[in-house]
Amino acid sequence: MDKDLKLFELLSDGEFHSGEVIAKLFGVTRSRVWSLVNSLEEKGVIVSRVRGKGYRYRGGSFLLDSNHIEQKLSPLALYYFPSITSTNDIAREYLKTSDQPLLVVAEHQTGGRGRRGRQWASCYAHNLLFTYGVPRFSAMQGLEGLSLLVGLTLVDVVNASLGVDAKVKWPNDVLINGAKLAGVLVEIQGDIGGDYSLIIGVGLNVNETPSVDDREVTSLMKKYGRAINRSELLVAFVDELRRNINLFCLEGFSSFSGRWNEMDAYRGCQVQVEQGGEILVGLSRGVNANGVLDIEVEGELRSVHGGEVSLRAVYE
Ligand code: BTN
Repeated sequence: MDKDLKLFELLSDGEFHSGEVIAKLFGVTRSRVWSLVNSLEEKGVIVSRVRGKGYRYRGGSFLLDSNHIEQKLSPLALYYFPSITSTNDIAREYLKTSDQPLLVVAEHQTGGRGRRGRQWASCYAHNLLFTYGVPRFSAMQGLEGLSLLVGLTLVDVVNASLGVDAKVKWPNDVLINGAKLAGVLVEIQGDIGGDYSLIIGVGLNVNETPSVDDREVTSLMKKYGRAINRSELLVAFVDELRRNINLFCLEGFSSFSGRWNEMDAYRGCQVQVEQGGEILVGLSRGVNANGVLDIEVEGELRSVHGGEVSLRAVYE
């Protein structure tokens, strides 16, 4: 087992563990234990060090239970990593040779990516960072709606599991009280007109609220008040997502557009949309059956398509 994982697992009982005991247990020197603790801290885990007592982590988050996830989602192929560059990048590699859907999950990413070239930051073993990959995806429907569907599925699953009040924000963010809870990065590999693999990356802030400079972010723990079992939540989400993707392949986004509009954080609000240098300001009128957003500008409806678009509320 990876030493970071092993140390986190040991410390997650919330008790003090002396450097000497850890060193013996792991078969390493005390200075190696020191550097392992530093490595966890570099990944955002706060460990207290008290002379004469040792090390303690009081965060209350636990490692993902990969056996449980694998068993519950079988026959899905699961790839679990303590720390990797980006689950989307790894899924892309595996999809080249896979003929089954797969799930890549990480406790930490060194190069997590968001939409519009942004980074996705997240502390070690506190949040959900994963990619669901589908090889040879062949939906006849536009992918625009599919990425909206992922955000909607997240909203429905966290609201049903935890009784929170999450909402979608076009195209595929998830918010609680206007603060970002989760983001979705859908990519494809191959030819959109022919055979391609679908890469659905999700970052969900569960037990830690990352510090991000330029926007308000939140986590489920902040809203719910206590640490959440990430493995259960992941299983519930992937299970629901698989079902929704099947329905999407049969009926397209039209079966979901009504629900999406119901859960839209900005429906009927004054919004500003920026797309390729152009800025539109108007009233958000919700999405149509293909997932295209309608904005009412001076009495006329303007259609906004997904992709590299940003939307924010305008407060007057
Ligand atoms: C966004 O809101 O900008 C999308 C964020 C998507 C982040 C997730 S974390 C797991 C997966 N791997 C990545 O590198 N990105 C996605």
